[in-house]
Amino acid sequence: MPHVVLLGANGQLGTDLREALRGARLTCLTHADLDVCDTTRARELLGGLRPDVLINTTAFHKVDVCEDEPATSFAVNASAVYGLALLAGELGSTFIHFSSDYVFDGRARSPYPEDALPGPLNVYGVSKLAGEYLVRRFCPRHYVIRTTGLYGVAGASGKGGNFVETMIRLGKSGNPVRVVANQVVTPTATADLATAVAALIERDGQVPFGLYHITSAGQCSWYEFAVAIFELCGMQVDLSPITTAESGAKATRPAFSVLDHTRWVHAGLRELRPWREALRDYLRAKGHISTA
Ligand SMILES: NC(=O)c1ccc[n+]([C@@H]2O[C@H](COP(=O)([O-])OP(=O)(O)OC[C@H]3O[C@@H](n4cnc5c(N)ncnc54)[C@H](OP(=O)(O)O)[C@@H]3O)[C@@H](O)[C@H]2O)c1
Repeated sequence: MPHVVLLGANGQLGTDLREALRGARLTCLTHADLDVCDTTRARELLGGLRPDVLINTTAFHKVDVCEDEPATSFAVNASAVYGLALLAGELGSTFIHFSSDYVFDGRARSPYPEDALPGPLNVYGVSKLAGEYLVRRFCPRHYVIRTTGLYGVAGASGKGGNFVETMIRLGKSGNPVRVVANQVVTPTATADLATAVAALIERDGQVPFGLYHITSAGQCSWYEFAVAIFELCGMQVDLSPITTAESGAKATRPAFSVLDHTRWVHAGLRELRPWREALRDYLRAKGHISTA
């Protein structure tokens, strides 16, 4: 059984990976255990643990804040990743690292395959793309996994929750809710993504190393996602669509960042289920709708 070391173990993806990998020999490290920017400490700790598989879910992903804090963004999303990739390469570990749809410029009208030309529109996207390239260049045994619109039961601590919980809170406030309708994504449940990553690890090196796209199936705008959340929860909310420009967000975001999964499926791995099914299960798990 491979020894798996999980970084960012308290995050929303990290929490669901802990569950999905419960049968594995797993060492979980939170931010408190290891700041990935502390390369010396990372070498000491991970060098001692000698993982067969190193999973990095850490990120600095407050997208608007990244515009004002490029140094932190690059420290966590690129420089730290360089250190981890070098170390994983030296140890002969398989390195699983997560990246983002925000590496794309959003001008496509059909889902992006892995070899589509990146063109990030914001500091976060540039820093994640730098991280990807560093992994691909410095760690031969790597899986770089791009995904989109994550939400999970733990919530992203860095973002103070997730989109679903934010919508439910705003909806309950009784105030009008305005949501961007001209950004199309695929909301992805971290529970499903974690199960897919566990399946990848189970295949133990039989899946060719490289870059993969994996998200839930389907696509929608953030506005359509909000509509689905309120519908499934049976909430009557004064909800209306706005444009990205009207939202006033600091960072520019891609208008369309749906990812194509063909390479994942060709590698013998399963597609994830449609985003709406995953959303229903998430709402049940959080107690927002009945399990009956
Ligand atoms: N969230 C999304 O919508 C989304 C979309 C596409 C791709 N992704 C990517 O998917 C991955 C997982 O995202 P997520 O939503 O699960 O994030 P998350 O819930 O915010 O989890 C990230 C974890 O990393 C930890 N962390 C942050 N900086 C750290 C540092 N310097 N050293 C050690 N740990 C650190 C955080 O701990 P603290 O909170 O204690 O700092 C947190 O536990 C990331 O690579 C992200 O870029 C996310």
